[in-house]
Amino acid sequence: MKIIVVGSGAIGSLYGAFLSRLEDTEVILVGRNPHVSAIQSRGLKIKGILGDHVFKLKAIKYASEVEKVDLVIVTTKTYDTLTAAKSAKHLIKAGASVLLIQNGLGTEELVAKALNTTKVLRATTCMGALRTSPGVVTATGCGLTEIGSRYPENYELVEKLTKMMKHVGFDVRSSENIEGVVWTKTLVNCGINPVGALTGLSNGDVYKNKALRGLIVKLVEEAVQVVDALGIELTTEDPVRYALGTAKATGDNINSMLQDLQAGKRTEIDAITGEVIRLAKLYGIETPSSEAVYALVKALESKYLKEGKKLAETDILPIDDLVEAITG
Ligand code: PAF
Repeated sequence: MKIIVVGSGAIGSLYGAFLSRLEDTEVILVGRNPHVSAIQSRGLKIKGILGDHVFKLKAIKYASEVEKVDLVIVTTKTYDTLTAAKSAKHLIKAGASVLLIQNGLGTEELVAKALNTTKVLRATTCMGALRTSPGVVTATGCGLTEIGSRYPENYELVEKLTKMMKHVGFDVRSSENIEGVVWTKTLVNCGINPVGALTGLSNGDVYKNKALRGLIVKLVEEAVQVVDALGIELTTEDPVRYALGTAKATGDNINSMLQDLQAGKRTEIDAITGEVIRLAKLYGIETPSSEAVYALVKALESKYLKEGKKLAETDILPIDDLVEAITG
């Protein structure tokens, strides 16, 4: 199988690298410099909890440099999905399937509609990875990958990819309820990510704080009302407990939204809390806590994007004031 990974940051490089170990599988990474040039000259180094490895992989800057592949894996941030998918339009037109490995809601429909294809697969991941320097990725967490598709014609490919990923050591399972999988993960992100991002705390420190745990409960409960209105079947019986359990289990993690703010980058709040608020409005559901954290994260985000400044210790809001303001 010939695979191209568009948006090869930490997560994309990690999946691409391990998949390239399979026989008869060629993987090409598409990313940005200096990551790409470092891989071209020294190979891709993977460190951390998966051990130390060097992968000799083809890395390029533009998908247009490739003529034909079987699979396009997109691992960009949610807001770059369409640009990434469009950059591989010629490959998709020529018959390639697309696998989106991301956080957030709504990207499958977006790609299917924009590129007029139903060969769209989706995965959620609880793998943690950081690009520690150009050409070097450190694996920080090893969690479940779940793959599925809302288009049944892709089930065979879903099973094939599940086997391939298992073979190279990922903890992976396929699901025929990918909407439920995506929503279950999104509820976790709705609870943990803005709270960590606004307080500057690791998932474990968020979990240890009673008031912040209470805020996670409110955020998840608001989002669950939307899930119920949509008639989506979650993959957990108790989403609040699941979100709190994830915060505890990933205690050392700095969640991805906080990482983005710390790097002065745009966050994925629009595809997570923003999407919950948008859908809630359609059903007349009130989401005051979600709206408050959304506004706060957006304010911080625009401040750092505008000033090109990174999150500083002094910008972190006092926790008690914050929780009171949000939950009343
Ligand atoms: O976005 C993240 O950081 C992760 O999805 C999670 C599970 C919240 C762990 O940090």
